[in-house]
Amino acid sequence: MKYENILSKTENGITTITINRPSKLNALNRATIQELHDAFEDADDSAKTKVIIVTGSGEKAFVAGADISEFADFSEEEGAKLAATGQELLFDFVANLSTPVIAAINGFALGGGLELAMAAHFRIASDNAKMGLPEVSLGVIPGYGGTQRLPQLVGKGRAMEMIMTAGMIDANQALQYGLVNHVTTPEELLEFTEKTASKIMRNSSVAIAAAIKAINANYEDGENGFDVEIEEFGNCFGTEDFEEGTQAFLQKRKADFPGR
Ligand code: COA
Repeated sequence: MKYENILSKTENGITTITINRPSKLNALNRATIQELHDAFEDADDSAKTKVIIVTGSGEKAFVAGADISEFADFSEEEGAKLAATGQELLFDFVANLSTPVIAAINGFALGGGLELAMAAHFRIASDNAKMGLPEVSLGVIPGYGGTQRLPQLVGKGRAMEMIMTAGMIDANQALQYGLVNHVTTPEELLEFTEKTASKIMRNSSVAIAAAIKAINANYEDGENGFDVEIEEFGNCFGTEDFEEGTQAFLQKRKADFPGR
């Protein structure tokens, strides 16, 4: 598929989606959100993709936020629609994908950029990365899930402070907060993220999809995560991956999972 604002390539089981508007610090306009949706959907549907990495092009930014020039003159209704559409097309969509998604944060991850990174299943940052939700400095609040996912990841008090001050934290503070799992040099970021992806790929993609569903259930209204875990645990017993995984263990060989 041809994209204007992003790049997508698949190699060795990893699809790397790169937001590619460096002159605008990879800000997310509507077209980019739609292209990201399409690229994530394609990768999730492809048998060739075991893990998705999302990153930004250039040395400066992962994503510097939603494209401010696009919504500056919006009405209340248009604002609400912008948030609802974005959440459905991209942020909730990514969070609920069956394929693991890792955000490789290579610079500024602000506003919608940090929200995209937080929608990924986990995050790795380079040591030049800066993260924040500066929306209140523009007279608006985070609208792509930031008020929900930031407190889930760093705790309510830290999220309140980050959102109220509109300030940025650096990669090491993000590591201390648990917002990112690892910090690397900028040069090592993609290689380290790919190595992490390779560790994931050795395992059953069917079981990983079930684990994502069970973990996410804790954060869904009206869902009981423990009940979802029981159901998904049971479902695993009916899969070819479970048969292969357990047989391989008993036969003292490496599992070769048929996968999703
Ligand atoms: N929306 C639209 N354009 C953006 C953008 C955004 N969120 N973030 C950066 N850009 C554009 C700038 O307008 C500029 O475009 P121009 O060269 O056509 O004028 C270009 O990207 C480079 O940004 P610039 O501000 O010149 O870079 P800088 O190094 O001086 O500052 C930032 C970097 C990230 C601190 C600054 O760009 C910024 O504060 N961006 C907005 C962050 C934000 O509030 N995000 C939340 C949005 S809800």
